[in-house]
Amino acid sequence: MRPRGILRLMDPSGSTVRRAGEPRGLEAALLEHAHRFEATFGRADRLRLFFAPGRVNLMGAHLDYNGGPVMPLAIDRGTFLAVRRRPDRRLRMRSTLDPRELVLDLGEVVPPRAGRWFDYPAGVLRELLAAGGEGPGIDVLFGGNLPIGAGLSSSASICVGTAFALDSVWELSLSPEARVEAALAAERGYVGVRCGIMDPFAVGLAREGHVLWLDCKDRSTRHIPLDSGAVRVAVADTGVRRELAWGAFNQRVAEARAAFEALARHVPGAVCLRDIPLATLERHAQELDPVVARRAEHVLREVQRTFEARDALLAGDLCAFGRRMLEAHRSLRDLYEVSVAELDALVEAAEAEQGVLGARLTGAGFGGCVAMLLSSAAPEGTLERIAGLFARRFGASPAIEVFGGDPGPREVVLA
Ligand code: GLA
Repeated sequence: MRPRGILRLMDPSGSTVRRAGEPRGLEAALLEHAHRFEATFGRADRLRLFFAPGRVNLMGAHLDYNGGPVMPLAIDRGTFLAVRRRPDRRLRMRSTLDPRELVLDLGEVVPPRAGRWFDYPAGVLRELLAAGGEGPGIDVLFGGNLPIGAGLSSSASICVGTAFALDSVWELSLSPEARVEAALAAERGYVGVRCGIMDPFAVGLAREGHVLWLDCKDRSTRHIPLDSGAVRVAVADTGVRRELAWGAFNQRVAEARAAFEALARHVPGAVCLRDIPLATLERHAQELDPVVARRAEHVLREVQRTFEARDALLAGDLCAFGRRMLEAHRSLRDLYEVSVAELDALVEAAEAEQGVLGARLTGAGFGGCVAMLLSSAAPEGTLERIAGLFARRFGASPAIEVFGGDPGPREVVLA
């Protein structure tokens, strides 16, 4: 039975978006989230519910900060936000995952980052206020169904979701691109992560049934259909979380930068590593530190592979697309050195299955998840066999799930 307060707030009046056919699973999860809001903040009239997806990246690994192309897909797991306007200027942000809350007055300056979960939404809030955005106080409860720190972009999901919800509740009329920029600025300028641009774009500009093609040099985008009748995307989580992953990530950023600086001398007009021809690297590799040369080789070959993968997808050749994913994984393992034994084992087990067209680590690496392109003709038991092999070797089963695509951040009005 739904509590009465919740039933009233499900009245669609005052809502901006009504998506017919919202998956029941998401509706049920958001209804549960609305209950939690009431348990946290008290009974709520006119509560509004928002969802922002996470993403898997299918091709273009570690290319965004090197100016290359990437091919992410938004997934139907992400961040839930329940938002209620307040009669005053106070803002309260709480989470279902962490008891620490952010409370502030909207007339005050947003305090410096605190090293807590709420740095992400606070950073977005700061960006929107700095751009002249304003509105009444609000209570917000964050939650979701996306594993945190698993390489599925939980941070971009929370940032873009916050930008979307504040934009809607304060009626700021921001463009999707402006919300993406606010999310990116929050992560880089406030939280202090040297992340590339892919994740907020993947979340903020998603289109259902499509992979996003994003050229990170000029930020041009294109949506390419992924035939959901022919393939599905399965995500296998190793459960490995490396505490120092951001340190190792920043090291890769610095190594790629060093490669660019050394090679750019030979290529007039080059503005990022992606602009260096592979032949230039081959000619001058001995001038580079061997580690830096390996990083550069991954980047330049991955750029080529990603263009090939795009052409394969446009031509409907999903087997060729899958082969590029497998090649990408090998390069991430041997040249970029961001894989771990658990990720390699999942990719190997997947590759041995005739129903899996491609598999590779997704996200930054050092743990987290493998994305698999699964043929819809895959024989029964394919994912179970992969999980079984992994469990025999590592003593624990990985969580493997088939994820649907997602149309991007939105308000959800429950029926
Ligand atoms: C992390 C970063 C992204 C991107 C990937 C690697 O997810 O947040 O910007 O660099 O790693 O492709």
